[in-house]
Amino acid sequence: MNHFSYRKRVLHAEDVPLPAIADAVGTPVYVYSTATLRRHFQVVTEAFGSHPHLVCYAVKANSTLAVLRLLAEEGSGFDIVSGGELARVKAAGGQPGKTVFAGVGKTADEMAQALSAGILFFNVESPEELELLDAVGRAQGKRAPFALRVNPNVDARTHRHIATGLKTSKFGVPFEDTVALYARAKKMKGLQAVGVDCHIGSQITRTAPFKAALTKMAGLYKELKAQGHALRYLDIGGGLGITYTEETPPTPAEYARTAISAVGDIDATLIFEPGRLLVGNAGVLVTRVLFRKETPARQFVVVDAGMNDLMRPALYDAHHGLQPVVQRRGKEVEVDVVGPVCESTDVLARQRKLVLPQQGELYALMTAGAYGMSMASNYNSRPRPAEVLVDGDAWRVVRERESVEDLWRGERP
Ligand code: LLP
Repeated sequence: MNHFSYRKRVLHAEDVPLPAIADAVGTPVYVYSTATLRRHFQVVTEAFGSHPHLVCYAVKANSTLAVLRLLAEEGSGFDIVSGGELARVKAAGGQPGKTVFAGVGKTADEMAQALSAGILFFNVESPEELELLDAVGRAQGKRAPFALRVNPNVDARTHRHIATGLKTSKFGVPFEDTVALYARAKKMKGLQAVGVDCHIGSQITRTAPFKAALTKMAGLYKELKAQGHALRYLDIGGGLGITYTEETPPTPAEYARTAISAVGDIDATLIFEPGRLLVGNAGVLVTRVLFRKETPARQFVVVDAGMNDLMRPALYDAHHGLQPVVQRRGKEVEVDVVGPVCESTDVLARQRKLVLPQQGELYALMTAGAYGMSMASNYNSRPRPAEVLVDGDAWRVVRERESVEDLWRGERP
């Protein structure tokens, strides 16, 4: 469900026609819908009903302060993977006490900042990290709350670049090593085990992998409790997929039912870390046609957004819907929509049937709210796009377009 729709052939974000934004702010521009973001959060948290739970939005999906603020207002917690993300959560008014910290390469500084800030817990990914966290805890005279991120060795059946729960993945500790590590951690004075954690991958479109992983995790949770570890949280990670084209992922309600039944009657608060699900189809990337260009093999449409602005098609062969901002009748032709970046992979939409785009026309790359702006780069010295948040018939720039001076801040020629 999202709030981007045509009215009299013009694509709107809620009640705002996209051309109004593009004309005022320029292109490329990311446009987000407040109503979609709020609704997604509510649907997700309501899916767990009265089962004790906390939704910790995965900041990496879209770390823009206005998005974080909106979700914090809704009551969301946060899943972070760096000190930078912690700083963003705090700057946006998010609560550290509802924040969990994952990632295979945390530094001592990042750990110390998060511990001082009073985060809910650390998701620890290796024995050496456990030892460093213990030292950081002792240095602050505290017991750092932690869960081990366990690799349940489950095939999430998603793109190989975004699967994380396989044996060969760098994430988490092997399932078989977990019990011994908790026993070791119990002897460390700077640590306090509070839960167990897993995350098996992203854009997962069926329930079976979640069921398999969570059944294993619940068994582990029970075993650890029986051994005297005072655990309270089972962090089930994120990863629930969304519809880009034809995918039919489980609904949040189906997902929550699967999770709750897989974990059974354990006395844990479930932590759910959705990223894409909350923000994915709450955003579009609006771009303008620069040129058309015909070669013997292809009809190309060159637009002003490139792979640096939206990296997913180049990196994962990802498909994003492409919609004309103003619909026009005419004969459809097959085109490749490409960006200005000097790379052959800079193809935003491949072999799409469109009424032949005209120079200056606007197009929207759909479902671009997740892993769009947060993965944007300055490759080819391209300033990153502006971002706009729509709310009903009102809208505001929530991040200015970068200037070229921003590009060389800190440089010394
Ligand atoms: N929790 C952890 C520990 C994660 O590593 C991730 C995503 C999430 C939660 C959120 O997953 P989500 O609900 O968004 O699927 N850049 C890729 C996706 C990378 C996901 C990395 N981890 C893409 O554009 O498809």
